[in-house]
Amino acid sequence: MTTVDYDTLIPNNVDLAADRRLQRALEAWQPKFVEWWKTLGPLAFQDSDVYLRTAVSVSQEGWANFGYVKMPEYRWGVFLADRVPGRTVAFGDHLGEEVWQEVPGEYRADLRRLIVVQGDTEPASVEQQRALCMTAPSLYDLRNLFQVNVEEGRHLWAMVYLLHRYFGRDGRDEADELLLRHSGDEDNPRILGAFNEETADWLSFFFFTYFTDRDGKFQLASLKESAFDPLARTCDFMLKEEAHHMFVGASGISRVIQRTVELMKEHDTDDVGAHGGIDIATLQRYLNFHYSVSLDLFGAETSTNAANYFAAGLKGRFQEEKRADDHRLKDATRQVPAMDGERVGERDAPSLVALNETLREDYIADCAKGLERWNRILAEVGAGLSLPHVGFNRHVGTFAGRPITPDGRLVTTAEWEAGMSAQWLPTDLDKAHVRSLMAPVREPGKMAGWLAAPAAGIHGKPVDFDYVQA
Ligand SMILES: [Fe+2]
Ligand SMILES: [Fe+2]
Repeated sequence: MTTVDYDTLIPNNVDLAADRRLQRALEAWQPKFVEWWKTLGPLAFQDSDVYLRTAVSVSQEGWANFGYVKMPEYRWGVFLADRVPGRTVAFGDHLGEEVWQEVPGEYRADLRRLIVVQGDTEPASVEQQRALCMTAPSLYDLRNLFQVNVEEGRHLWAMVYLLHRYFGRDGRDEADELLLRHSGDEDNPRILGAFNEETADWLSFFFFTYFTDRDGKFQLASLKESAFDPLARTCDFMLKEEAHHMFVGASGISRVIQRTVELMKEHDTDDVGAHGGIDIATLQRYLNFHYSVSLDLFGAETSTNAANYFAAGLKGRFQEEKRADDHRLKDATRQVPAMDGERVGERDAPSLVALNETLREDYIADCAKGLERWNRILAEVGAGLSLPHVGFNRHVGTFAGRPITPDGRLVTTAEWEAGMSAQWLPTDLDKAHVRSLMAPVREPGKMAGWLAAPAAGIHGKPVDFDYVQA
């Protein structure tokens, strides 16, 4: 197994010390990164001691070390999963060939683009979440937020390493650009729409980590299949970190729901807003928003880019190797959503160009699992949450701009506008109420009144552990 070099400025398991030029280039990028972190990372707590995990190996058992760290001193590093000896390309035109350790010239531009788009989302989410530390509902949650933030920073490092190591001068320029675009910046925004919205409150944060970090999981999982082996190995390890981000979302929403149910029973009412909770209708509207925005991240139902990436071996499907087909998809077809006159319908499309839709479907199935768990809690009060129809509130693809209701009906513009402003997406009143609940709680073990305590602390520590020392 590759050992991690922790004695250098940039911890790594890629033997950076053996490549002086690369090491110097990354050491020159490092202060720019730290400067970015201090300027656009968390608004406060930069001098606090935070109980964080740091990656110290890529092995299955014990890859992380826990301890108090001041965030600007976090050991961001470069970690690739170990090479799989004899690994071959699992799909596309190069199926069965040896995977690539260098970038083939003909795929250079496409690979660079894929890495830059992925890399851009990582610092973007840190920027989106920077004000949340002011209103954390507990020290436990504050620590989880910071864990997510430093790991998104590390994911940026992962992509920047690939750009520096494999893409020469233009790779270095792209790495600099990743620190120059900013979430919501009018002149120089982040590449993808969902990453330019501020994460305004903790309810949004939990839904964001559940739905939008899960998009990240599916993008990384398909890049993990790449014939470009260093990219595959990077994404493999990033997925381990990503799992915690989705845990934060899934368990965060569970705790909100648990508290809502408690308040409903205690006061015998659905209207728990008056008692400092968040009612189910509001939760559904927040869910509708974050889910539909995340569906857009997968792109249009059909895409020649997606087909080309697959044929070239750059980006596979989710769990490519487990699929029982020919992994080339040259003659395969599948159904994709389509508008059929004035109805929501389907049409046939070549499977190769429909790969965005295939990935979106896998994502939707994964999203549904968390909902089942949430609905088990809600069953106590005879209620439930649901995923809106795939056509609802979409801005990309076939359904873009179509007046489709959360239950999948195409309606008149008037009906649509009425529903959009009052029933289906968070209203101004919802947002004002949620914001009114966002008072910081900083005493160890104490929780804000709108969510339940977690079942357990982090890394075997108690819930009332002092996770962030001011
Ligand atoms: Fe990430
Ligand atoms: Fe993440």
